[in-house]
Amino acid sequence: MGQRILITGGAGFIGSHTCLVLLEAGHELVVVDNFDNSSPEALRRVEELSERSALTVVEGDIRQPLVLDQAFRSRGAIDGVIHFAGLKAVGESVADPLRYWDVNLNGSRVLAAAMEQHGCRTLVFSSTSTVYGEPEQFPLREDMTTAPVHPYAQTKLAVEQMLEALCRSSSWRVACLRYFNPVGAHPSGQIGEDPLGVPNNLFPFITQVAAGRRDRLQVFGDDYPTNDGTGIRDYIHVMDLAEAHAVTLDHLLQQPVSSCLTLNIGTGTGLSVLDVVKGFETATGLTIPFDVVERRPGDVPRLQACPEQAKTVLGWTARRSLQEMCRDGWAWQQANPMGYRQPA
Ligand code: NAD
Ligand code: WQD
Repeated sequence: MGQRILITGGAGFIGSHTCLVLLEAGHELVVVDNFDNSSPEALRRVEELSERSALTVVEGDIRQPLVLDQAFRSRGAIDGVIHFAGLKAVGESVADPLRYWDVNLNGSRVLAAAMEQHGCRTLVFSSTSTVYGEPEQFPLREDMTTAPVHPYAQTKLAVEQMLEALCRSSSWRVACLRYFNPVGAHPSGQIGEDPLGVPNNLFPFITQVAAGRRDRLQVFGDDYPTNDGTGIRDYIHVMDLAEAHAVTLDHLLQQPVSSCLTLNIGTGTGLSVLDVVKGFETATGLTIPFDVVERRPGDVPRLQACPEQAKTVLGWTARRSLQEMCRDGWAWQQANPMGYRQPA
């Protein structure tokens, strides 16, 4: 049954893929985005791929109540909200913590207040595996200690705590999804990850090396306590992550009373940097030249999910392989060498 969903940050990497999955599931969408780190072109392509006209875009900042009022009124009553809008660069959060506390925490507070005002209390929130800090036990379960070590992760944990308080005080239905490392793209190659400037993250850097936009990959350290000395992460196909949002939303909308879920959204498989490089080379037949350099400040040796709760509660598990992540990520990069900012 189609519902009317408000998506903040819906033009972004994960948001755009989730919008496509939700449109294909028959939902109507209202997207609020200030395009601070994305392009309206992404949403145009999402609508085109969905072959539906059921998406309204409200350009603006989630910290502005009037923007949210406009969004809540644009297509009629909103049944649920998925909240992607926010800032996500760890290094930037260290350099400019106040901006991260404002956008990520205050923005979420303004959104929750607008939801209350418009009688909508069903919310899926984008949290992050980095709330676990530098864990020593693996795989990571949701009941394990959170110990964020940078402002970005601190803001995300603070929003989780704000939402938990809402669930305790009134009949809110909330799911905080702690994403691990989303990579790849929709198999059409029409939408994907389009980082501004030099990519911070491993996967888009690899695809830009493959496309000739970057000369060589720098591997940040090979002296970690891991199988090959390079950092281990839990990479998940962005389509698996998008589908997890649709399943979570359906689950929340079926809950008769207050509900407060915190779920790790990962594959449960840890891959090293060199595993990803080799996987990409095998999937594409290309060579990714790299140099091993010093560790990157703030990096942790390993992050790997235990996704059992998501399977038990939602019946969801990630199902796409590293090969599919690499194949689809490369198809996007090949078709869009400059991302959505195609040369005029
Ligand atoms: P993204 O930057 O591609 O998307 C975020 C979107 O939010 C962008 O379209 C941006 O323009 C918009 N936005 C930012 N600030 C806004 C504001 N004040 N008002 C309105 N719109 C605003 O990021 P993403 O990778 O799609 O991540 C989405 C969410 O998931 C973020 O909250 C991020 O912290 C979280 N997350 C991402 C990852 C990851 O590795 N990509 C991992 C864990 C969690
Ligand atoms: C992965 C691995 C690096 C780049 C980031 C954010 C985190 C979350 C997910 C929002 C690490 C290594 C990387 C490069 C490399 N986003 N690497 N050379 O750091 O796990 O998490 O994205 O929630 O907040 O910090 O992802 O892709 O940057 O790094 O060797 O050029 O690749 O050391 O081991 P990370 P990443």
